[in-house]
Amino acid sequence: MRVKLLVCGGAGFIGSTFVRQRLLEHGDEITVLDKLTYAGREENFHDLATHERFRFIRGAIEDADAVAGAIEQSVPVAIVNFAAETHVDRSIAEPDAFVKTHAFGTYVLLEATRTLARTSEHGLRYVQVSTDEVYGSIDSGSFSEESPLRPSSPYSATKAAADLLVASYFHTYDLPVAICRGSNNYGAYQYPEKLIPLMVLNALHGDALPVYGDGMQVRNWIHSTDFSRAIGHVLEHGVAGEVYNAGGPDEVANIEVVRRIVELTGAQDSQIEHVRDRPGHDRRYSLSSAKVRELGWTPAVRFEEGLARTVAWYRENAWWWEPIRSGSYRAYYERQYGRALR
Ligand code: NAD
Ligand code: DAU
Repeated sequence: MRVKLLVCGGAGFIGSTFVRQRLLEHGDEITVLDKLTYAGREENFHDLATHERFRFIRGAIEDADAVAGAIEQSVPVAIVNFAAETHVDRSIAEPDAFVKTHAFGTYVLLEATRTLARTSEHGLRYVQVSTDEVYGSIDSGSFSEESPLRPSSPYSATKAAADLLVASYFHTYDLPVAICRGSNNYGAYQYPEKLIPLMVLNALHGDALPVYGDGMQVRNWIHSTDFSRAIGHVLEHGVAGEVYNAGGPDEVANIEVVRRIVELTGAQDSQIEHVRDRPGHDRRYSLSSAKVRELGWTPAVRFEEGLARTVAWYRENAWWWEPIRSGSYRAYYERQYGRALR
């Protein structure tokens, strides 16, 4: 079914992947509302910008007027909220924006959703994109949707706050909302502050590959096209008030990810450096996706193939990352890693 969607945070890594899928594969009409932080870039939808069913509005989700204006222009059947500050290290250094965007921004969007009619042919009126990090770390086994929330960083704590607010609008106002929690995403258009794109670009440039601590932390990798499809499944088939976990098919230790990137880029093992660990670093994430699989979703991309494709994308799309790597990112990198890029 073709629908009109308001996609908040649609200029980011996963949001733009979701927008591309919905526009090109489902024929939806998409309006993106995005503040364009350092991570939100028009380059992420360069191939979609002139599409007749695509509209971009620059604005913040915590700005009630901007949100009302976007709803008036787009008349969406549903709002899908990707808008977030997403880097754990930045949340440790400067938590302010995380609190504002996740707690207050989500509240503004939920209030705006209440102005949409409660029921539609479509079903859900709001989908919150969330993360496995709200459950905290798990030594063995996998988190289900019933697992308690035990977030450990300002990033995950404020994402959990947003999830609780979303759930409260279902219980209190009967608002047809759902939450989709993903595991670690990777793929094209990911900002190079995150493990995989950072290591790929550093490897290609002969820079050091900074592994936090012993590098034995495990992440449950999911390709961004698979997570986007899971969010689409929840939007189309999800039940109001429910949470759906969408985890990737593979769990890999960080050091193993970095070794594979060294192989794929032809870099040197000697570029790998163990550096100071992240404070409060979660050791392992793992999600059970049984519930969203029951909606008919299944991940299509295995890590080995997806990583090779991702490395190839970064090799072939220097136009996308060169302005980042030569801009204010350099100052961020120096602050975070205490050293300059080449
Ligand atoms: P990203 O940092 O690439 O993109 C975030 C987008 O939100 C950017 O376009 C940014 O400009 C926009 N934004 C930030 N604050 C805003 C505000 N106040 N108002 C409007 N727009 C704002 O992030 P991503 O990796 O694409 O993550 C998208 C969503 O998916 C987030 O909610 C994140 O918590 C969640 N998630 C991410 C991962 C992952 O591994 N990257 C995994 C699970 C869930
Ligand atoms: O699990 C889902 C989450 O995954 C999302 O909700 C977050 O938005 C996203 O940033 C990601 O969080 P992580 O902290 O797991 O991702 P990051 O890429 O920052 O780090 C992945 C692992 O790699 C983590 O154990 C820390 C480690 N790491 C990271 C960087 C940037 C390093 O060892 N060195 C690095 O330089």
